[in-house]
Amino acid sequence: MSTALVILAAGQGTRMNSDLPKVLHPIGGAPMLVHAIRSGEALEPARIVVVTGHGGEAVGQSALSYAPHVDVAVQEEQLGTAHAVAQARAALAGFDGDVIVLYGDTPFIQPETLERMQAARAAHDVVVLGFEAADPGRYGRLVMAGETLEKIVEFKDATDEERQITLCNSGVVAANAQILFDLIDGVGNANAAGEYYLTDIVGLARERGLSAGAVTCAEAETLGINSRAELAGAEQVFQSRMRAEALADGVTLVAPETVFFAFDTVVGRDTVIEPNVVFGPGASVESGTTIRAFSHLEGCHVSRGAVVGPYARLRPGAELAEDVKVGNFVEIKAARVDRGAKINHLTYVGDAEVGEEANIGAGTVTCNYDGVMKHQTRIGARAFIGSSTMLVAPVSVGDDAMTASGSVITEDVEPGALAIGRARQVTKPGLARRLFEMLKQQKLKKNQGAS
Ligand code: UD1
Ligand code: MG
Repeated sequence: MSTALVILAAGQGTRMNSDLPKVLHPIGGAPMLVHAIRSGEALEPARIVVVTGHGGEAVGQSALSYAPHVDVAVQEEQLGTAHAVAQARAALAGFDGDVIVLYGDTPFIQPETLERMQAARAAHDVVVLGFEAADPGRYGRLVMAGETLEKIVEFKDATDEERQITLCNSGVVAANAQILFDLIDGVGNANAAGEYYLTDIVGLARERGLSAGAVTCAEAETLGINSRAELAGAEQVFQSRMRAEALADGVTLVAPETVFFAFDTVVGRDTVIEPNVVFGPGASVESGTTIRAFSHLEGCHVSRGAVVGPYARLRPGAELAEDVKVGNFVEIKAARVDRGAKINHLTYVGDAEVGEEANIGAGTVTCNYDGVMKHQTRIGARAFIGSSTMLVAPVSVGDDAMTASGSVITEDVEPGALAIGRARQVTKPGLARRLFEMLKQQKLKKNQGAS
């Protein structure tokens, strides 16, 4: 049975107090909407429709940039959740599998939970995801009769007795596409909010002799985000989950609560991550590496046996081969560093290739930018770049070549050559002592003049 996802993301999110549409606020470096899409993607859906409204264009673009295969449907006016799902009808024309409705602001629903909902469809025409709420507050309530879900009643419309129910509606619904849209056609807006409630499809289904049931999950999965405080809470939940997964996967986190992962961080077994390491999107670290304290990694790949940090920054396009060493205050961007090369201190390597076993001295800079364009630097295998070398790109240093400390290298260096690009030293005997004496005299005169 094929599945389609409909992800509701048209709501305004007033309480975020933001120019950015709510669903684009990030958790672990990706918009919360993307988290919702990714958990649904585990079901290998045939189609995904994102329903946008407020900030629709930005939301649609963002969804497409992470998942180019999604369809974007626009809900011009936010008339309620049933009306929102109805906007996906055109995009799902001809689709007769199951639809699962998710919310773009509810990022933590687990794929296993969605699989249980799929399985429960064998027993029920409409399956709703519920949860036992510690504080049911204003959630919709699931009215059960044994295994049967009779209806969902919104808090605003509920009787006192119904408000006592603690089994709440998460908003996630699964049903056959045809049946879902037929039911939605029957939904009206004569209720306390004057909205078209998706939740009304349950009562309608029962009236039509269809069956409805509930699957339940932990409340933590259904966590929705409406404010910055809830966003911060969601980040915490996300980080705790990623840390627990890393530990379970055999990664050593010396101080787990200080390590921050992105939604797509990959870390291999037997890697050691020291305190205060931050991963931005797109970082992968192979097994058996060490990421030392206070390092920041993003859009990069670190191979087995490499040691990074402390205080290193790997930016997008940094590719470290096996056994590479990158030390303190080193920044690497769009550069491949081959096996065993060492870049240990105070260095910028950008738009470059660094050969096997090359040694880059402290304070080296690839001067990659001329103010208009970026240029490449190539450093050969086993090359030795003297401390404080400025490599003015485009430039290449051959295999087994050397540059003298303090050189400004503007011309290619052939393999095996030593390049010296600095003024020759001049030493004046006794001049320092005479200079000091002269300066002290000047200071004395100045102070006497002042008093
Ligand atoms: C909804 C449910 C409620 C459930 C709760 C869980 C309804 C009628 N109620 O209530 O039973 O307990 O979620 O959080 O479904 N949206 C649109 N277009 C609209 C309206 C909403 O896209 O016209 C989207 C929102 O962006 C949001 C989701 O649908 O992602 C839910 O909308 P929201 O207004 O938060 O519904 P609740 O009142 O919280
Ligand atoms: Mg809500």
